[in-house]
Amino acid sequence: MLHDSYGRQVEYLRLSVTDRCDLRCTYCMPEDFKGYEQTDDWLTFDEIERVVRAFAHLGVRRIRLTGGEPLLRGNLAGLAGRLSAIPGIADLSLSTNATHLAKNAQALHKAGISRLNVSLDTLNPARFAAITKREALASVLNGLMVASEIGFAPIKINMVVMAGVNDDEIDAMVAFCMQHGFILRMIETMPVGETGRNAGFVALAPIRERLRSRFGLVDGVVPGGGPARYLVSHDRRFQVGFITPMSQHFCETCNRVRLSVDGTLYTCLGQNDKVDVRIMLRAGCSDRELAAALIEGIERKPFKHEFKEAPDKVIRFMSSTGG
Ligand code: 5AD
Ligand code: SF4
Repeated sequence: MLHDSYGRQVEYLRLSVTDRCDLRCTYCMPEDFKGYEQTDDWLTFDEIERVVRAFAHLGVRRIRLTGGEPLLRGNLAGLAGRLSAIPGIADLSLSTNATHLAKNAQALHKAGISRLNVSLDTLNPARFAAITKREALASVLNGLMVASEIGFAPIKINMVVMAGVNDDEIDAMVAFCMQHGFILRMIETMPVGETGRNAGFVALAPIRERLRSRFGLVDGVVPGGGPARYLVSHDRRFQVGFITPMSQHFCETCNRVRLSVDGTLYTCLGQNDKVDVRIMLRAGCSDRELAAALIEGIERKPFKHEFKEAPDKVIRFMSSTGG
């Protein structure tokens, strides 16, 4: 089992399969970003499978495919099929911007992905283009509808709330998600990379209280909800989560680590601690050595991010670590 020195058990791996993205969300990546990893340094599917097997052996049960935009990695469904077949992996999910979801949804569902998180910050096409630097809202919405029809459940919509950018659209997003049976999750922007630091932070607590009375919502628990705190409708058919890394951090219950596409294991999103897994793999390490490195790296997992105390600490962009 993987435990850190604070007694937290790690059972969840967020696996970035590419650091490329077809969007340029202002809070995530600079528009002219050039610092991509060399494709030679990307873990191959065989290498990813080996690492996931090692994690599964150590008690990791849940994997989320992230990026960048994971659907830009060729044959993602092929990888998903290999990972969901690994004994011990009980849950395989995907975070995507959904620009390429419509044509891939069927194959991904067949490959064992059942749960989807889709990034969507606005329902207004011009605003979508301003935030992401691409006119792709129609393909995103189409992707969502196709995925919903195929039967992905739950589908969660992740909305990064930014002051003066989309904070006037919260009620519209609630109504949209209610209508389509999606779970809405609002996220406070984190100072990850200089883009994250410039994004226009909004505290979610007052918004949460406003929505509670406006839509008659009550506190609720959503299984597998992770760090989000939820409000639910009385019939529980609508759920809205608040991810508040800044105003109310939840590090004490952190259960996750992140593997970037170049095989770097980051043990905290808000710190620079890491294990260079690729270097070990390509130096021909044994399974035992690999397991020992994972155990030892996770033992050293930092207690918490220091987004407030040291906002400049993480210089890598969110697209390289996965959100
Ligand atoms: N703060 C919070 N979330 C971020 N994401 C990217 N950059 C940031 C940031 N600075 C997350 C969002 C987005 C996903 C792709 O990555 O959840 O929807
Ligand atoms: Fe791409 Fe997601 Fe970053 Fe937007 S937030 S640029 S969709 S990785």
